[in-house]
Amino acid sequence: MTMSEKIKLTSYSTKGGCGCKIGPADLHQVIQTLPPAEPDPNLLVGLDTSDDAGVYKLTDELALVQTVDFFTPIVDDPYSFGQVAAANALSDIYAMGGKPLTVLNIVAFPIKKLDKSVLADILRGAGDKVKEAGATLVGGHSIDDNEPKFGLAVTGLVHPAKAKTNTGAKPGDKLILTKPIGVGILTTSIKKDALSEEEIARVTKVMTTLNKTAAEVMEPYDVHGCTDVTGFGLLGHAAELAKGSGVGVRIGQAQVPVLPRVRELAEAGFVPGGTKNNYAHLEGTVTFASSIDQIDQWILCDAVTSGGLLISVAADRAEALLADMYGAGVEAAIIGETVSDHPGEIRVEPSL
Ligand code: CO
Ligand code: CO
Ligand code: CO
Repeated sequence: MTMSEKIKLTSYSTKGGCGCKIGPADLHQVIQTLPPAEPDPNLLVGLDTSDDAGVYKLTDELALVQTVDFFTPIVDDPYSFGQVAAANALSDIYAMGGKPLTVLNIVAFPIKKLDKSVLADILRGAGDKVKEAGATLVGGHSIDDNEPKFGLAVTGLVHPAKAKTNTGAKPGDKLILTKPIGVGILTTSIKKDALSEEEIARVTKVMTTLNKTAAEVMEPYDVHGCTDVTGFGLLGHAAELAKGSGVGVRIGQAQVPVLPRVRELAEAGFVPGGTKNNYAHLEGTVTFASSIDQIDQWILCDAVTSGGLLISVAADRAEALLADMYGAGVEAAIIGETVSDHPGEIRVEPSL
């Protein structure tokens, strides 16, 4: 395909939609109307803790980790979109301390409107990431749809006693984040043609980076809890960890790595609806220091695609883990800590 006939994949969205998640409050309302599921003693992690993936015990040594994720295009290049979607779906396995084993492709595609080579490029991008993860594609399902959507169902394995849940953080832990934030604001800016090719490449690189290395580096450490930062944003996923673990969270705004130009683009109005929803849902859970303005509050809630791991590690191991992350090329940062005060709630300070 030549530059002149380059498609704008993000424009094939029938509702100008963001492909973002249905918010936790709306989902909760729906689930409440359903009959309760039969208890199963082998279900180690299920729906009730809003964790990254389900964990189902097969034997005393082995458990399945299962997750699914798909969305509308957030970048225009089909190959990159496939890579982002795959890295994002695989991430939930890494966030549980698991290893991905098999994947299934989930495809919705306007096969009469868009060239078949576009779909081939999406699948090729995903396939390359699946290969990098050491997993195996075993099948998939596709439908003809006005709006392209793509993602994966992923099955992984973990030792049942070693699954890293979002309910295990202990007071006094340090919180490590392994990728910068601001992805939602930047991808919204892509749709509005507000980013240069270099800036698009930069944010795409962040999203296509697997959390594989970060997960491998954290494995031998005394990690109490872990989740990955995706649709509900840094503070949304930190809130799930705080509530699930019964700990308070303190975050230093200055310690959180944010991608270049995010603040400027947020000031220019490129804050996605999903990010503002995240912010609204966190009212009563998050308290911001008065010096942190609305723009920075939104940035900390920004809806992320394929974000980093948020790791709650014993404080005396945090610096060593951070050094190992750097050594492995992971741009990690200590962004906060867990405390016994204000359990289930987050306090954001200008700096810790
Ligand atoms: Co997740
Ligand atoms: Co997910
Ligand atoms: Co986890």
